[in-house]
Amino acid sequence: MTVFRMFAVSHPGLEEITLRELEGLGIEGKPTPGGVEFRGTLEDLYRTNLWLRTANRVLVRVAIFKATTFAELVERVSRYPWEIYIREDVPVKFRVTSRKSKLYHTKAIEERVIKGIMKRVKFRPLMAEEEDEGESVIVRVERDRFTISVNSSGAMLHKRGYREKASEAPLRENLAAAIILAGGWDGKTPLIDPFCGSGTIPIEAALICTNRAPGIDREFAFEKWKIHDQQLWEKVKEEALNAVRECTTPIVGVDIDEKAISAAVENSFRAKVYHNIRFVRGSFPAVEFKEAFVVSNPPYGVRLSSKNIEETYSSMGRWIRKNFKRARIAILSPLKRYIEATGLELERRLTFSNGGIRVGLYVGEV
Ligand SMILES: C[S@@+](CC[C@H](N)C(=O)[O-])C[C@H]1O[C@@H](n2cnc3c(N)ncnc32)[C@H](O)[C@@H]1O
Repeated sequence: MTVFRMFAVSHPGLEEITLRELEGLGIEGKPTPGGVEFRGTLEDLYRTNLWLRTANRVLVRVAIFKATTFAELVERVSRYPWEIYIREDVPVKFRVTSRKSKLYHTKAIEERVIKGIMKRVKFRPLMAEEEDEGESVIVRVERDRFTISVNSSGAMLHKRGYREKASEAPLRENLAAAIILAGGWDGKTPLIDPFCGSGTIPIEAALICTNRAPGIDREFAFEKWKIHDQQLWEKVKEEALNAVRECTTPIVGVDIDEKAISAAVENSFRAKVYHNIRFVRGSFPAVEFKEAFVVSNPPYGVRLSSKNIEETYSSMGRWIRKNFKRARIAILSPLKRYIEATGLELERRLTFSNGGIRVGLYVGEV
């Protein structure tokens, strides 16, 4: 049975959460900056693509070697089994980066990699158009060491397929899942997002609570590979559908903006968790449960002044203390000052970049 060397790409700062997800799938991994390395079978490749909630994509490391001349590069590339990934009729896109290496001209490197592949597969790969999604062959050169990977996922894994409608500043689906998991939600405590926008956090929470595989309704690049085993893939998907369970935990999304709420409702419908979430239009409403997991990505201050933002954070702090006897809190925020305005004692658990803005995940309990 073929064992693949794989790499689950995660957002820098979220590697440990992706590692824990892999462990949950029974796979041992080694975290490195930007992701987690692991080994596994074709079935593991299918399961990780289907189940990883926090990763960006899953790569297969096809070739790792040293080369300092173009002739050497072509020869080394041609030794690997490209025929199992590349088909005559499926366009391929290349992305090349080079650092501190004798071969540094990325276009010239790409040409030689293609030449090496052609030597092996005996046809010229079709080149993808710019707008085609997801680079399929990724060539990284560092100190003359080549790492050539194929992207098994295709479009990034945060694209589950349910979010056709986005509100302003939507959070990527995999980041929403990451803050729920890193925030320590037990799946049983009622969950509320007081700034839910297009509903990403409540929807991801409902997917977790119902144990629904995040990738069940989308396509993956590996489905077009020559080695793709449709029967095995159907089995993996079938197992995922059988694993769906009932979730009775209240999950609530609140937003002041009517358009955001209607987008959230539609998105939850497409994600098949419409029945698991209550969306409320409003601001800091009273709720019937006295214990909660409050998880949110409040406004950043693009539209509101920072004074208004601090007031909003401060209202959130008052609302949490007034409404809940006990609450676990996980708030994503760009500034510690905002968190301080809540008057709650929260600690920074994670730091990562969200749409180019450095943000911290602040976690605590009252
Ligand atoms: C950064 S966005 C949340 C994005 C969301 N996580 C998503 O993925 O779509 C912040 C949201 O807070 C809402 N908002 C701002 N002030 C509010 C308030 N006082 N009460 C409730 N919602 C508010 C905005 O309408 C906006 O949708």
